[in-house]
Amino acid sequence: MIQSAHSADLLSANILDPDIFPAQRGAPHRLFDAWRTADPVHWNPVTPTYTPDIPGSSMTKGFWVLTRYQDVFDVSRDQDLFSSHEDGFVIWDLEEEELQRQRANFMGMLPADHQAVKQFLMPAFSARALQALSPQIDKLAKEIVDQIAVRERCEFVFDVASRLPVYTFCELMGIPEQMRERVVELGNAVADVETRGAHEVDPTFQLFGLAQEIAEQKRQTPDGSLMSLLVNDAALGLSEMAVNMFFVVFAIAGHETTRSTAAHFIQLMAAHPDQYALLRSDVDGHLENAIEEVLRYTSTTTNFRRTVMADTEIGGTPVRKGDKVYLSYAAANRDPSVFADPHRFDITRENARKHLAFGTGPHVCIGARLARMELHVLLKQIVTRIPDFQLVGEPTWLRSIWFNAITNLPICYTASAA
Ligand code: HEM
Repeated sequence: MIQSAHSADLLSANILDPDIFPAQRGAPHRLFDAWRTADPVHWNPVTPTYTPDIPGSSMTKGFWVLTRYQDVFDVSRDQDLFSSHEDGFVIWDLEEEELQRQRANFMGMLPADHQAVKQFLMPAFSARALQALSPQIDKLAKEIVDQIAVRERCEFVFDVASRLPVYTFCELMGIPEQMRERVVELGNAVADVETRGAHEVDPTFQLFGLAQEIAEQKRQTPDGSLMSLLVNDAALGLSEMAVNMFFVVFAIAGHETTRSTAAHFIQLMAAHPDQYALLRSDVDGHLENAIEEVLRYTSTTTNFRRTVMADTEIGGTPVRKGDKVYLSYAAANRDPSVFADPHRFDITRENARKHLAFGTGPHVCIGARLARMELHVLLKQIVTRIPDFQLVGEPTWLRSIWFNAITNLPICYTASAA
C-alpha cells in the first residue's frame, strides 16, 4: 500500500542500492511515489559503497531523478537542452574510451547525425517491412513453443522468452541459422549488464568479434538484410567501429527488454488470476492492450540518462549545465496524474498505451513496433497452447539499477502435442 505521508528515511533512500530492485521485485515504487509527491526533481547523491561492475564505468557524480510523467516526457523531447551525446545515455560515468564508444553508438550520436541515421534505419522497422517479416516471426514463435509444449515444465526466460528476440534479431540482420545459438548465449551474457565484468572475456567484445565476422560476409555477399545495408551503403558511410556498435546495440536493445517483458507477462498473469481469466475469455480482444499494460506496469528499461547542456529548470527546479538527469520511465508510468490508480494491474486500462516504456522524442525506441509484434505472437502461442501455466517457486529478479528483469522463471503446465 502506498502511503501519502512519507518518512524522512524513505525520502533519503538511494536509488544506487543494487538490492533495491530485487528486494522490491521490480522498481522501488514506494520510493518513487514519495519523491514524486514531496520532491519530484530529486537529487540522488552517489554512495561510496556503489561501484559498478561494468568495464570503463564508475559512479562519481550525483544526479537528478525525475519521477513525474510530464518531466520525463519534456526532457526526453528536448535533445538540445538534455543531451544523450555529451556524457552518454547511461547513468554511469564513463571513462574517455568508453564515452567515445557510446558516442559512436547510434543512441549517443550528435543530434543531426542521429537524425540522419534514424531516417536511414526507419524503413527496416516500418509496418510494411515488419509485415514481410511477420510469417517468419510466427514460424519462429511456433517452433519455440513446440519445443516446450510437449514437456510439462520449462524455465520460461531461457527456454522461451530469450529466444524469439534473438532469432528475430538474426532474421533482421541476416545472420545464418547455424550462428543463432552463439548469439543467444552472448545475448544473454551481455543482457545482464551489471555482471558483464565478471566474465573472463567481456561478452560485448565477443559480440564485436561476431559483428566483424558477419560484416565481412555481408561485404562479400550483400543481401537485403539490415546488416548488409549498414555495411554496404556508401552514402551512409559508417565506419567499421560504427557498424560493430550498431550490431551490439541492436543485440542488447532488442533482447533483454523483450525477453523480460514476456517474463513479466507470465509472472503478472500468475499473480492476477482475475486478469488472466479476463484475457482468456477473449484473447484476440484483450491481448494487445494486456501487453501495453505489462509494458506500463513493469517498464523493463527503467531509466536512461541525459546531460543538461545549459543552466535551466525542470518542472520548476533549477538545474545546472553539466548536471546528470535520470529519466525514470518506471516512475513516470505510475504517475497518478496520468494513470488512474496506477499501481493496479488492469489489462483493460484505457490509456495503457500512453506509457513511456519505449521512451519518447527523438530517441524513442525504434524497435517498439517489432517488440510489440514479437510479444503478441509469442504470448498468443503461450496463452492458447499452454493456458494452465503456473509458476514453480519464486522467480529470480536481476540485481540491477537499470533493468527490471526476471532472470529465472520456472513454470509447469499440461503438456500438449506440437
Ligand atoms: C519491450 C521491448 C523494448 C523496450 C521496453 C525498449 C525500450 C527502449 C527505450 C526506453 C528507449 C529510449 C532510449 C532513450 O530515450 O535514450 C529505446 C531506444 C531504442 N531501442 Fe528499444 N526497447 C525495446 C525493444 C527494442 C527492440 C526489439 C529493438 C531493436 C531490434 C530496440 C532498439 C532500440 C534502439 C536502437 C533504440 C535507440 C533509439 C534512438 O536512440 O533513436 N528496442 N528502447
